[in-house]
Amino acid sequence: MTGSTNGAALTALQKELDGQTPVSIREAFVNDPERFGRFHVKLDDLVFDFSKHRLDAALLAKLVQLAKDSGVEAKRDAMFAGEPFNSTEGRAALHTALRNFSGQPIMADGADVMPEVTATRAKVAAFASGIRDGSIAGATGKAITDVVNIGIGGSDLGPAMAAKALTPYSSPRLRTHFVSNVDGADIGDTVKGLDPATTLFIVSSKTFTTLETMTNAQSARDWIVKGLGEDAVKHHFAAVSTKLDLVRKFGIEEDRVFGFKDWVGGRYSIWSSIGLALVIAIGPAQFEQFLRGGFEIDQHFRTAPIEANIPMLMGLIGVLYRDIQGISTQAVIPYDQRLARFPAYLQQLDMESNGKSVHRDGSPVTAETGPIVWGEPGTNGQHAFFQLIHQGTEPVPVDFLVAAEPTEADPHHHDLLLANCFAQSQALMQGRSLDEVSAQLTKGGMPADEVRRLAPHKVFSGDRPSSTFLYRKLDPRTLGRLIACYEHRVFTMAAIWDTNPFDQWGVELGKELASKLVPIVSDPRASTEGLDSSTAGLVAHRRALAR
Ligand code: F6P
Repeated sequence: MTGSTNGAALTALQKELDGQTPVSIREAFVNDPERFGRFHVKLDDLVFDFSKHRLDAALLAKLVQLAKDSGVEAKRDAMFAGEPFNSTEGRAALHTALRNFSGQPIMADGADVMPEVTATRAKVAAFASGIRDGSIAGATGKAITDVVNIGIGGSDLGPAMAAKALTPYSSPRLRTHFVSNVDGADIGDTVKGLDPATTLFIVSSKTFTTLETMTNAQSARDWIVKGLGEDAVKHHFAAVSTKLDLVRKFGIEEDRVFGFKDWVGGRYSIWSSIGLALVIAIGPAQFEQFLRGGFEIDQHFRTAPIEANIPMLMGLIGVLYRDIQGISTQAVIPYDQRLARFPAYLQQLDMESNGKSVHRDGSPVTAETGPIVWGEPGTNGQHAFFQLIHQGTEPVPVDFLVAAEPTEADPHHHDLLLANCFAQSQALMQGRSLDEVSAQLTKGGMPADEVRRLAPHKVFSGDRPSSTFLYRKLDPRTLGRLIACYEHRVFTMAAIWDTNPFDQWGVELGKELASKLVPIVSDPRASTEGLDSSTAGLVAHRRALAR
């Protein structure tokens, strides 16, 4: 693998560009009627429009050089080759093997991983088909109608987001539910109204030790036992994990246990058997389309030149805003109600991967790393937080995502959706100057002193950046392509910062402290000695309230 680069190329570019005024997007469009032609990439039906960014050809060339000098291509190749890229956990990051349709072997630790990947996929497909056609039924012989995935983080967000996104492709006979929070309301509300005889629980946990998942799994088990008796458990549970010994202890039968390898990071695991609930919902054939969509982007990421490489451009643009222009957030606004959970999914993907403070060699980073990723579907966001995006003091780069064709029958709704999506990126780019506002108000007959008073409030600075993804339809292939684009964007940014995007040590301390507090919170007589005064005060107040 390439040695540490410690973000040196980025530091040099920061120095070079220090104090330079950002490119005016608005002016760039005025000066260059062909700007879209120069700043978009088309991959089959998928267009990535990056023309509305603070970029010109010269700056783009510098960013491309930044990727080269940071060793992004060599690091990418090392990841795909199964080298132990996740150095702090001593393993490869090979989620791409799960969607490898090249027919070529992929080696990790000296062995080809593909035979096992293919065999596990076939086992998942057979089980999913059995649930879908009713040949695998519950303890009483009734067909399963409700599938409840119990998992959290990467073992929940991916399948939950995708199941919602791909509703039109789902079996109408089956409902999928997702339980993640240790808050008993989550499982409690979910099982209300379900019939144990027709419910299947999938316990999804890479480690099979996660507090939330194990607690919810136990409650689900109790619910099945209460409804159908102990013997029914084997008919109403399946599990997905890398820790097959722990699953065995829980009592789930071998033929209902689906493994994956520790070289699949939790937030990259939707492509693995963690996708079981999704496979049951949409069927193995559509799931394969989803995987193939991811594979298409892998091929593109590996072979396209940097200036025409969508994930690399996404990453370079991300670094431009985060590190050259000091912008701390990134909004993702799908104009697609079914992608409502996509921003939450990307939050884990991006913020758990790139919320890092040290380089791969352990030295502190000198640049800012991961932005805060957030978003909600349009058009809803327009009536909530878009005010800040248009007129707030810090620009917010936005990713818009929208399909050319609706999945619903009514095309009128979709035309309105598209028009709004295009209009928002246009408004952010163009803005409206004081002169333009004043002229408009004056033309409407407003007195001059009123125009002077009101006009500043109606000014839009413009020059606010956005990318737009426009594709034919939100189908399994497209969802796979979109996710893979974001995975490789995250990778590109980490490669420039020279950080490890595949570990997540930052979640450990909270887990550790919570496990120490459980006995103190559960037992009102337990001593709070040694706790800081805030935690002790909160425990005391809770005890007083819960008396
Ligand atoms: O808390 C962080 C985390 O480890 C995530 O990285 C992971 O996706 C999630 O917890 C769930 O972990 P598991 O699949 O092992 O239950």
